[in-house]
Amino acid sequence: MARKIIIDTDPGQDDAVAILLALSSPEALEVLGITAVAGNVPLALTLKNARIICELAGKPDTKVFSGCDCPMARSLVTAEYVHGKTGLDGPVLPDPVMPVQDQHAVDFIIETLRTEPSGTVTLCPLGPLTNIATAFDRAPDIAERVQEIVLMGGAYFEVGNVTPTAEFNIYVDPQAADIVFKSGAPIAVMPLDVTHKALVTKPRNDAFRALPGPVGHAVAEMTDFFERFDREKYGSEGAPLHDPTVIAYLLQPELFKGRHINVEIETTSELTMGMTVADWWGVTDRTPNATFMRDLDADGFFTLLTDRIARL
Ligand code: BDR
Ligand code: CA
Repeated sequence: MARKIIIDTDPGQDDAVAILLALSSPEALEVLGITAVAGNVPLALTLKNARIICELAGKPDTKVFSGCDCPMARSLVTAEYVHGKTGLDGPVLPDPVMPVQDQHAVDFIIETLRTEPSGTVTLCPLGPLTNIATAFDRAPDIAERVQEIVLMGGAYFEVGNVTPTAEFNIYVDPQAADIVFKSGAPIAVMPLDVTHKALVTKPRNDAFRALPGPVGHAVAEMTDFFERFDREKYGSEGAPLHDPTVIAYLLQPELFKGRHINVEIETTSELTMGMTVADWWGVTDRTPNATFMRDLDADGFFTLLTDRIARL
């Protein structure tokens, strides 16, 4: 039976590829809904981009919900310098015509977790954790009903990409991240330590471009655009596909290796705001609350991704 998931997202080219991967795998994943949140770009654009991608995938019946337009306690920080003005710069794609659902994303998350059997819905956050934490805050009964939260966020060995110590998704809404990491729900984390190993090298980009149909070509154009930031900053070989690691983990968990450890979120120091303080070496007696990934079989990951994108 397909695993039921909610994708919470701020597309973003790498979010877009994650959505495509999920929508290409209906035998394994049932996408109950996609909830948009402000992050890489403001909410109006992430909501539009989520629908552009559903239509690109040929799945205009996917339910897309509008969520929170700003973090719980801080001003919104965006990342147009990485993703471009639209958040999805690169390919030229038509404006979406599919509808936005009437229900607010937070209400959808709460209602779904209350109505589906307990332990059968997995949350896949690919952006700041505002929608998820707001739902947990409003409905404290739902956290124990979550099957698993598999999220992209944080870093330990790679430290930060938006400040010296913080990764973007956690930095944008540290209060929300703190609520989620303290929620007691089972959590698997895809930090920069893993996602910086998921690099779209030239041969991997060529493989996307060579796929028949428009989707592979669009993915190649997205990663073409998205790579310049990491090339300039890190000298890396190509764009890191952060968010698709979340979906790949649901499809092939054996591609990943990590440790079940304690992870706390810095919410008070401006200097290290949003840092994921990960007790990788077990030097505290704090209770483990997350499986924090560190290694990825990158070739296996790109084989999975290319094969699945080819289905669309
Ligand atoms: C994360 O931030 C966003 O820019 C990406 O979409 C990803 O979710 C990486 O730090
Ligand atoms: Ca994202």
